[in-house]
Amino acid sequence: MIRFENVGMRYGMGPEILRDVSFHLAPGSLHFLTGPSGAGKTSLLKLMFLASRPSRGLITMFGRDIATLPRAELPDLRRRVGVVFQEFRLLDHLTTYENVALPLKIQGRSEDSYRADVKELLAWVGLGERMTAKPPTLSGGEKQRAAIARAVVAQPDVLLADEPTGNVDPEMGKRLLRLFIELNRLGTSVLIATHDHALVEAAGAPELMINGGRLTVRG
Ligand SMILES: Nc1ncnc2c1ncn2[C@@H]1O[C@H](COP(=O)(O)OP(=O)(O)O)[C@@H](O)[C@H]1O
Ligand SMILES: [Mg+2]
Repeated sequence: MIRFENVGMRYGMGPEILRDVSFHLAPGSLHFLTGPSGAGKTSLLKLMFLASRPSRGLITMFGRDIATLPRAELPDLRRRVGVVFQEFRLLDHLTTYENVALPLKIQGRSEDSYRADVKELLAWVGLGERMTAKPPTLSGGEKQRAAIARAVVAQPDVLLADEPTGNVDPEMGKRLLRLFIELNRLGTSVLIATHDHALVEAAGAPELMINGGRLTVRG
């Protein structure tokens, strides 16, 4: 699904923050991405949703080398990847419901075909009463749950989540983990960046650990 071979990454002329990173995510796999703050977790995710370019090495997504991918194919590739950004990136002028439904709307689906599913998902993440609220009036944890619902609503092939439980209490953290596991059971490859060890232990999934720019796989 995603393969990295000897990937290096740097910002501008700075030092390489990722060095010789090699791993692959198989279809239907679930992994955690761990490492201390500043280790490069967010930077690695940026490579995977094509927001940054590697300074060396090979990255293939869905069997395509991203370095030679024609621009015209980028939107299609991005549609297959759901992302929960650390800073949420919700659209402030849309309601919570509209934010979460947006990926389906962009696919050209009729609202009648998804309204009930979106409402059910919102209820599941505890936002049933906040559907018509706009992001500026949501708490940090509510925004995080809306961002997660938006990332999973279209059942992407790959889900990348950056610290998805950073703003919620442990109970909600476990609930969100169940949502990721459920999505994974439906076939989505899931990668969760976190420094929450309780979450990693609760799921018992393999860990991609970044330290000193190097990545090792555990489990
Ligand atoms: N836009 C940027 N420009 C320059 N350096 C950056 C930028 N974003 C992150 N960094 C640096 O890259 C390193 C890895 O950061 P990051 O990927 O955010 O780590 P993590 O998500 O594991 O906390 C840090 O040293 C950070 O300061
Ligand atoms: Mg980060």
